[in-house]
Amino acid sequence: MHPFILTTWSFGPVGNDAAMPVLLDGGSAVEAAIAASTVFEDDPSIDSVGVGGLPDADGELSLDGALMTDPHQCGAVCFIRHYANPVQIAQRVMEKTIHTTLAGMGAEDFALREGFERRPLLTDEAREVWEDWRADPRNIDRERYRGWLPPINVEELKGVDITRHRHSDLAPDPAQSHDTVSVITRDAQGKLAVTCSTSGMAFKVPGRVGDSPVFGQGLYCDQNVGAAAATGTGELITGICGSFLVVEKMREGASPEEAIRIALQRVIDSYDLVDEHQVAFICSDKDGRWASGALKPGFHHTITDENGTRVEDPTFVMMP
Ligand code: GLY
Repeated sequence: MHPFILTTWSFGPVGNDAAMPVLLDGGSAVEAAIAASTVFEDDPSIDSVGVGGLPDADGELSLDGALMTDPHQCGAVCFIRHYANPVQIAQRVMEKTIHTTLAGMGAEDFALREGFERRPLLTDEAREVWEDWRADPRNIDRERYRGWLPPINVEELKGVDITRHRHSDLAPDPAQSHDTVSVITRDAQGKLAVTCSTSGMAFKVPGRVGDSPVFGQGLYCDQNVGAAAATGTGELITGICGSFLVVEKMREGASPEEAIRIALQRVIDSYDLVDEHQVAFICSDKDGRWASGALKPGFHHTITDENGTRVEDPTFVMMP
């Protein structure tokens, strides 16, 4: 058995390096995945999770997080607004309740009862990014984004001719901030765990939940088969049950790379993609053979194993 930590995106080393000692000291895959996720969530320089995440259209930050090791072992929380570590709260949901998912005020009450500390999550930097976005009339370009970007109330435009700004190539790119941190860990006993943590799509419609805290979509794990996790435009992952699809293809005999390829092809076949769209998966089978794949260039994974920590290109890119 060779332990490893496989993380989405190039900011992985900060979490992987903190969590690898957990595995080397004989800790479990769950403990390592939680340790890595917590580092990412607490790092204000990562603008897509935890403290420092970018807010919704109203300037409010809300977080989603999940943990899964098996169909009967999973927990998730959605719309967390005052606690920095949704994956830790998700672990408590998994271990201490008969439920799998808590949302909104109920999830926050649960976190308080569990002793989690309320913290301010929105940094000055994230607020400034939101203020710039909010002030830019090009962001009412709903047609280009198929209605996904929330409109600015027309009354707030103060006479700006909105028609002149439609289809602007200069409109801010929501996909750039769309970087769910997903972590797959494998411990010395060969057990797998997977986590997702995200602040969701930047400037989302308040209340929006993407793929990350939904089992089968942002993450899936079955110790008999393997684990998978997603990152990217959640709306493209939810409709194809992306992580479940990857694991089920491995169950049918596909290699990790083939399984991701099938899921990404399903994305291509199912949606009218636009430039801003990106989806990537990481996965491992139960024997520790792992892969990553992305729809488009730009995605990297971070792997930490007995050979150290490397930020690498994905195993393949579907639309290079
Ligand atoms: N993939 C994260 C999200 O769309 O919220």
